[in-house]
Amino acid sequence: MKKNKILGPVVAAPSYEESEDIPTNPLTAPTLGDVITARAGRRDVLKGMTAVAAVTALAAPLSTLATHAARAATSSLTFAEAPHTITETHQTAPGYEANVLIRWGDKLFADSPEWDPNNLSAEAQAKQFGYNNDYLAYFPLPLGSDNSEHGLLHSNHEYTNPELMFANWSKETQTAAQTRVEMMAHNGSVIEVKKDGGKWHVVENSKYARRITLDTEMRISGPAAGHDRMKTGYDPSGTRVFGTINNCAGGKTPWGTVLMAEENFDGYFGGGDPESAPEARNYMRYGVSAEPSWPPGVVNWHKTVARFDIGKEPNESNRYGWVVEYDPYDPNSTPVKRTALGRFKHEGATSIVNKDGRVVFYSGDDQRFDYLYRFITKGTYDPDNRAVNRDLLDQGTLYVAKFSDDGTMEWLPLVFGEGPLTPENDFNSQADVLIETRIAADLLGATPMDRPEDVEPNPVNGRVYVMLTNNSKRTPGQVDAVNPRAENLHGQILELTPPGGSGADADHVALNYTWELLVIAGNPNEEGSGTKYHPDMSDAGWFSSPDNCAFDNAGRLWISTDQGSGQRKNQIPDGIYATDLEGEARGLTRFFFATPADAEMCGPEFTPDNTTLFVAVQHPAEGSTFEDPSTRWPDFQDGMPPRPSVVAITKLDGGVIGT
Ligand code: FEO
Ligand code: CA
Ligand code: CA
Ligand code: CA
Repeated sequence: MKKNKILGPVVAAPSYEESEDIPTNPLTAPTLGDVITARAGRRDVLKGMTAVAAVTALAAPLSTLATHAARAATSSLTFAEAPHTITETHQTAPGYEANVLIRWGDKLFADSPEWDPNNLSAEAQAKQFGYNNDYLAYFPLPLGSDNSEHGLLHSNHEYTNPELMFANWSKETQTAAQTRVEMMAHNGSVIEVKKDGGKWHVVENSKYARRITLDTEMRISGPAAGHDRMKTGYDPSGTRVFGTINNCAGGKTPWGTVLMAEENFDGYFGGGDPESAPEARNYMRYGVSAEPSWPPGVVNWHKTVARFDIGKEPNESNRYGWVVEYDPYDPNSTPVKRTALGRFKHEGATSIVNKDGRVVFYSGDDQRFDYLYRFITKGTYDPDNRAVNRDLLDQGTLYVAKFSDDGTMEWLPLVFGEGPLTPENDFNSQADVLIETRIAADLLGATPMDRPEDVEPNPVNGRVYVMLTNNSKRTPGQVDAVNPRAENLHGQILELTPPGGSGADADHVALNYTWELLVIAGNPNEEGSGTKYHPDMSDAGWFSSPDNCAFDNAGRLWISTDQGSGQRKNQIPDGIYATDLEGEARGLTRFFFATPADAEMCGPEFTPDNTTLFVAVQHPAEGSTFEDPSTRWPDFQDGMPPRPSVVAITKLDGGVIGT
């Protein structure tokens, strides 16, 4: 069958991951010595590492493993691995099936127009499933139950690929109408989903169905709300804004609301004269510029939509880069931007209730050389009174992480008036600290990381897992023990251990944790790869660029990857890998699910009973065009473009996934 043919290393254009993410951290500009060492090549790069880093990177077995015996370690994950090959379609481990649940353009409401790929309109798109599904969150129905066969599914719609959405698209010919379609294809959707006869479907005409778009009015709350720097021509109150942008991953609160993270918002703004504007320092550190280079489709939004023109609305960009909370059980609820969690390129925001009742949120700033954050609520969570928890996210303390090479780390509070966060450095209030979180964190001496993506607390073992996706710009002079490779194309998985013990005993409000690298990714067969895997890993178990993650009820880690166009260089698909975190197979990664060609894997989300794993297949065929896509997944019909879609993975015997 044609769609199962293994595809080669050809790819048309650099994809999003390559063109995005120009580092803006001024503290990490390469030195002349770095440039010379970088030219000397990879072998010398490894020699140039600090002793600690070199040991961490090169020692093959995991330090916590027993000495490798002749007998292979037995993983608790019993599936045979999925084919580790790039094809036009998705592939699962044997014994599992993957069914498409909803596609870009599918109807959400009784009055949604039928999808017509040759005649997209903003009006239709606003009532249809959006583009580039990313973070997924399952909420059982009714609220408070653990129903694994009927619930709500929230999906983020991170960005758009106009070159795959529109025929004959180009930057130069982008029209205002196309921009409007893209704006309506962004943000989020809620669908009601039900499992009947072992198969999931979308409930038609659900009262819960919702589209959130760039026309959706949102409230701004917390310490930065109403500040002068948050005011615009159309919102003199500084408390109302239309929509959210570039919602990558997210999180769920213990009280059953969704958190949508605002990631690469900078690329949506342009125009003006940013270098001489009052917000110049801020624009520079966040990458806001007159001529945005990414994402490819939205470079011209500012030419037809005034609020994205920083010459016209110099503060509009300050109203993005936050975490947005809304209640999926109430289709009329107003989403709220919670400024207390800081402004940066939030990959996600995942939570755990600490033993003292305060709620702790972890979040990564996904850019090369940016930081890892934690927010602790001031108030405590009340499991019996949902209304009491409603504004818990408006007060609390934001912290940034500083790592030491000896395996310890420290959380530094970002509090106005403390340390360097004073008027001397142009911080005049907590609002200033939050609007320029990155600059505040620079001043505190936070550790520049290799692009922190998902950061998730594991409720079973009490540890926190950080997906560090990659960082091609790190120079030999910039390696440290936690970011141990220069020119890091493949990333690593970092495990943080709070003090206090495992599970509910872990103290997520402590100032000092310890850390260890669980996996250093990349192709272990490549000379000088500096990878770290379990010695019993199969040829299918290695991966590159860990991005999102989830835990099953046994506390095992499920990892999704995002190699960008690197998948064609690495010759492995993006997909889902899983590993034990305890015992002899700790760190033994196994391949479970492959995306179709040139797609990224997002959103792994289990039902409470772990019999279904929902995944989001994002941007299938990225790097090619509407006319000649590298795959027409999932419809495989002539003339039908590839469609980002949500997939439900179940075991053929209906059992628990992974067992
Ligand atoms: Fe949207 Fe961090 O990738
Ligand atoms: Ca990513
Ligand atoms: Ca996740
Ligand atoms: Ca991603």
